[in-house]
Amino acid sequence: MPLSAPTREALAIYGGTPVRRTLLPYGRHSIDEEDIQAVVNTLRSDWLTTGPKIEEFEEAFAAWVGARHAVSFSSGTAALHGAAFAAGIQAGDEAITTPLTFAATSNCILYQNGTPVFADVLADTLTIDPERVASLVSSRTRALLPVDYAGHPADLDSLMEIADRRGLLVIEDACHALGAEYRGRRVGSIAHMTVFSFHPVKHLTTGEGGMVTTDNAAYADTLRKFRNHGISTGARDRQQAGQWHYEMDVLGYNYRLTDIACALGLRQLTKLETNLARRREIAVQYSSAMRGLPGLVLPAVRDDVLPAWHLYPVRLDLAKFPAGRSETFRALRAENIGVNVHYIPVHLHPYYRNRFGYRGGEFPIAESGYESLISLPMFHGMIDGDVEDVIRAVGKVMGDFRK
Ligand SMILES: Cc1ncc(COP(=O)(O)O)c(C=O)c1O
Repeated sequence: MPLSAPTREALAIYGGTPVRRTLLPYGRHSIDEEDIQAVVNTLRSDWLTTGPKIEEFEEAFAAWVGARHAVSFSSGTAALHGAAFAAGIQAGDEAITTPLTFAATSNCILYQNGTPVFADVLADTLTIDPERVASLVSSRTRALLPVDYAGHPADLDSLMEIADRRGLLVIEDACHALGAEYRGRRVGSIAHMTVFSFHPVKHLTTGEGGMVTTDNAAYADTLRKFRNHGISTGARDRQQAGQWHYEMDVLGYNYRLTDIACALGLRQLTKLETNLARRREIAVQYSSAMRGLPGLVLPAVRDDVLPAWHLYPVRLDLAKFPAGRSETFRALRAENIGVNVHYIPVHLHPYYRNRFGYRGGEFPIAESGYESLISLPMFHGMIDGDVEDVIRAVGKVMGDFRK
C-alpha cells in the first residue's frame, strides 16, 4: 500500500530527521586491545598456522560447550562440509534440513553429492518441525540438519529420538547458537556433530572460522583428516617427529584455521559469557519495550531453552499492519537502523529452483515467515543508547504506518 503522508514526527523516508545520525549495523564484532595483542604475539611466534594455538583453542572450546572433541575449520561452511563428509553423506543419500536458513546449511549436502530434502518449520520458533521431519525419512535418508534459527535451539530431543529410531545422524547447524541451552544442556554437547561459525557478526569471531564439536572420537579423527587434504598427520607432528613421510587416504581439502585466528578465538572465548549476557539483556529490553505494539510479533522463546540471540527477528502481522515488509524495511533503514532479513528460503534461490524444480509454495510456513521477517540490530557491543534508538525507530515507523 502507498505510504501515507506523516502527521506526527516525520519519518526520515519522507525527509524527516532520522532517529540516528549514523547507521547502526544489524551485527558487529567487538575487538579489544587484548585480542590485538594475542594476534600480535602469534605473529611474532614460530607458528602462523598448524601450530600450538589450534589445539589450545579446540580444547578450550570443547570444554566450554561440554563436548569431548572440537575440530576447527576455516569457516562455518567448511565445518559443515566436514561434518557432512564425516557423516558419510554421498551420492544417492538424502539429508533433511530446513528451508529457512543460510544456503551453506543445505549446500554442504550438495558438496557431498547428496540430496537436500526440506521440511517446513514450526510456526513459533521457525526451527525445523520434527513431525514433518519424521514423515520425510526414507531408506535413503542419512542425516538430519536442524538449524538453531536466530540462536533458538531446534527441538533437539525430538530430532535425536527420530535419528536414533531410524539410524540417522544429527548434524546441528548451531552457527547462530554458540552459548544457547536446550533443556539445561549447552548446544554443542547434544547432537552427533554440532557446527559453529566465527564470522564477525557471531558471538565470538576469528575473522572467518568454524568448529565442529562431537563426543565421537572417530568423527573427530575424520574431521581432522578432511580439513587437512585427507592426510592424517599434521606438518607440526612430522616436524617434531623428524619425519617427512605422510599418506593421503581420503580426498580432503585445505580447510585449516590458522594459529593467528585461533589466538584471537582463545581471547574471544574468555569474553563469551559477558557477550551472551549482554545479548540476553538487549533481548529483554526489546521485548519489554515492544511487546504489545500492534502489528508486531516478537520472537518466540520456548520454556525449555535459553537462546543465544544471534539475531532478533521480529515479524510483521501483515493482517493488522497493512504496510508491507519492504516499506517498513526501507523506512527503518532511512532512520539509520541497519535492519536485515534472515532468510530468503533456500529452495527459492535460482540455483535450487533450476536444479530441483522448486516454484514456491512448497513450504508455506517458512515462506510466509520470510515475507514478514525483519531482523533488528543485535550484537553485544550495542550500548543502551543504540537499543533505545532501535525501539524509538520501530515505534515511530510502526506508529506512522498504522494510521
Ligand atoms: C545458519 C548458518 N549456517 C552456516 C553459516 C556459514 O558460516 P560461515 O559464514 O562461517 O561460513 C552461516 C553464516 O552466517 C549461518 O548463518
